[in-house]
Amino acid sequence: MFETLAPEPEDQIMALGALFRADPRQGRIDLGIGVYRDAAGRTPVMAAVREAERRIWEGETTKSYTALAGDAAFNDAIVDLVLGEGLARSGRVSVAATPGGTGAIRQAADLIARARPGATVWLPDPTWPNHPAVLAPAGLRVAHYRYYDAATGGVDLGGMLADLGRAGAGDVIVLHGACHNPTGADLGPEGWAAVVGLCAARGAVPLIDLAYMGFGAGLGADAAGTRTLAHALPEVLVAVSCSKNFGIYRERTGALIALTPEGSRRAAMQGTLTALNRTAYSFPPDHGARIVATILADPGLRAQWEGELDAIRTGMIANRAALAAELARLGGGARFDRIAAQRGMFSLLPVSPGAVARLRADHAIYLVANGRMNVAGLTPANVPAVARAIIAAMAEGAAG
Ligand SMILES: Cc1ncc(COP(=O)(O)O)c(C=O)c1O
Repeated sequence: MFETLAPEPEDQIMALGALFRADPRQGRIDLGIGVYRDAAGRTPVMAAVREAERRIWEGETTKSYTALAGDAAFNDAIVDLVLGEGLARSGRVSVAATPGGTGAIRQAADLIARARPGATVWLPDPTWPNHPAVLAPAGLRVAHYRYYDAATGGVDLGGMLADLGRAGAGDVIVLHGACHNPTGADLGPEGWAAVVGLCAARGAVPLIDLAYMGFGAGLGADAAGTRTLAHALPEVLVAVSCSKNFGIYRERTGALIALTPEGSRRAAMQGTLTALNRTAYSFPPDHGARIVATILADPGLRAQWEGELDAIRTGMIANRAALAAELARLGGGARFDRIAAQRGMFSLLPVSPGAVARLRADHAIYLVANGRMNVAGLTPANVPAVARAIIAAMAEGAAG
């Protein structure tokens, strides 16, 4: 029967990584990949994670199953971290641990499909390519709303609100909680307030993808939009990833948090999240969740983790500032200022697809075809070469 299967198109970013690894040129630079890299090009194990793993290894007495919705210590800790203690204790919160943020989005898709079969899910344009790929198979309709203003490098709030004005009651609006992937353009307080008004007026439910908490403006600041929505709206979904901010990508650690109005609906929601875990994979992975719970419960380890996370965050901001300054110095003009203003691991380089292709072919600098650049791939040492290559690739295009 498997003759009916068609080959799947290769994942664009994985394919780019393979091309990079096969490139023999000295000094090739990978700005395409979606993981954090330090100045030495490594994706390190955080010291707080290593210490938590040591404690787990010493203290663990069993590898028996945990709970279907995940380890309670992790679930409580992640809810506190994301929502803050006030909301966490409000009686409105249900939570299930999931395999990474992707698992949380996929569980959210099944939850939405169960509550409202055939609902429309609105995605920002552009968005993480896996969003439609993970949401559509649950039977949801996918629509797009304007989000990025390529002229300014910021959010096209007017276009966004106009498009979302067509959302119906029970539609779901996907929002990036912080560090929008791929643009680095985030909603500010005014934008989040507008989303509250829009969801309330349309009866739409937000699904916040929080994959980079702590990578943008700081832990609390990166959760501010999520908390604004969670306080103001009766129903909110949050898909949390611990892959980036704890650097535990392969441990597959995340959570789906669901807020319902105060009262009896919580029992049905918690029961549904638990049942969805049961039917998808029975128990969620536990090792990464235990690392996160260990770190968040211990004041010393937590302070160490926050320090390491902040160093990652400020390092990326420094990379952004350095590249924007160097491009300005080389005559790139104001168009590159946005790189310094945007936040998180990604920006869309404001250059043509031809320039992206020339950067790879002529300068061994790898970006995703849409111009997405991983700013964590920049280092103080490679910024001058990257800036020179960007200016040259643009000039070659103008000359050709
Ligand atoms: C926007 C966004 N959401 C969710 C994820 C999921 O992360 P993971 O499943 O690795 O936790 C990613 C990872 O790249 C992402 O960029």
